[in-house]
Amino acid sequence: MVAFRLPRGSEVRQGRRVPAPDGASRVREFRVYRYSPDEGASPRLDTFEVDLDKSGPMVLDALIEIKNSADSTLAFRRSCREGVCGSCAMNIDGTNTLACTKAIDDVRGPVKVYPLPHMPVIKDLVPDLTDAYAQYALVEPWLKTESPPPARERLQSEEDRRKLDGLYECILCFCCSTSCPSYWWNGDRYLGPATLLQAARWLQDSRDEAAGERLDALEDPFRLYRCHTIMNCTKTCPKGLNPARAISDIKRRIQQRR
Ligand code: SF4
Ligand code: F3S
Ligand code: FES
Repeated sequence: MVAFRLPRGSEVRQGRRVPAPDGASRVREFRVYRYSPDEGASPRLDTFEVDLDKSGPMVLDALIEIKNSADSTLAFRRSCREGVCGSCAMNIDGTNTLACTKAIDDVRGPVKVYPLPHMPVIKDLVPDLTDAYAQYALVEPWLKTESPPPARERLQSEEDRRKLDGLYECILCFCCSTSCPSYWWNGDRYLGPATLLQAARWLQDSRDEAAGERLDALEDPFRLYRCHTIMNCTKTCPKGLNPARAISDIKRRIQQRR
């Protein structure tokens, strides 16, 4: 378990408490971060008592139940409910993870739900990922080739395809980047583990022909070398990936070409 700091500038006060409906027998308490910059008030922590008989088993199910039954203004992102879109990433019980794959039963006591740490908050549990996506675009995450295209698709051996395992599964949830102290302090210049894992994915692809220029773009004291192997990224990744290893692979490639 890795506990992270609260979102930027958050002085969280106690908000309102919404009791469970009459007759509820399986009640769990959810303490949910609320913030709406448009209202001008400081962030608050609202407490909702949720009847688990009316909710599915995951934290996302409880948030949907809260939104449907207690407070329709609660804002959060979600889409797939299957851990594949990455949009429901948030900080639950002190750990960055996916609300749709985090079981309520795995949390002891009140379930504390915050947005991803150290990111500007648009509203409630919705972080502003504009800069993170701009950094992602910077590594040009697509196949780059110079050789003439073959008549059909560019093929890859099974062995080369297997080298992408542990990289291609990334769902860009940014749980890792927002768990990294280096990214907290230097997020304007350090690319962070999510984007660097993506960079490693294209460096590893046997069909890509732009390794040299990719490494040129990464060889920078801030973009890459602000990773100090703190490992929070790997500990928190909800897909079980290892961004720290991907980053050290990029460093090794740069070392080897010198
Ligand atoms: Fe999310 Fe893991 Fe990808 Fe980081 S490496 S963005 S934590 S899936
Ligand atoms: Fe950060 Fe992970 Fe490196 S937590 S410092 S990116 S090993
Ligand atoms: Fe898609 Fe959670 S809703 S990962």
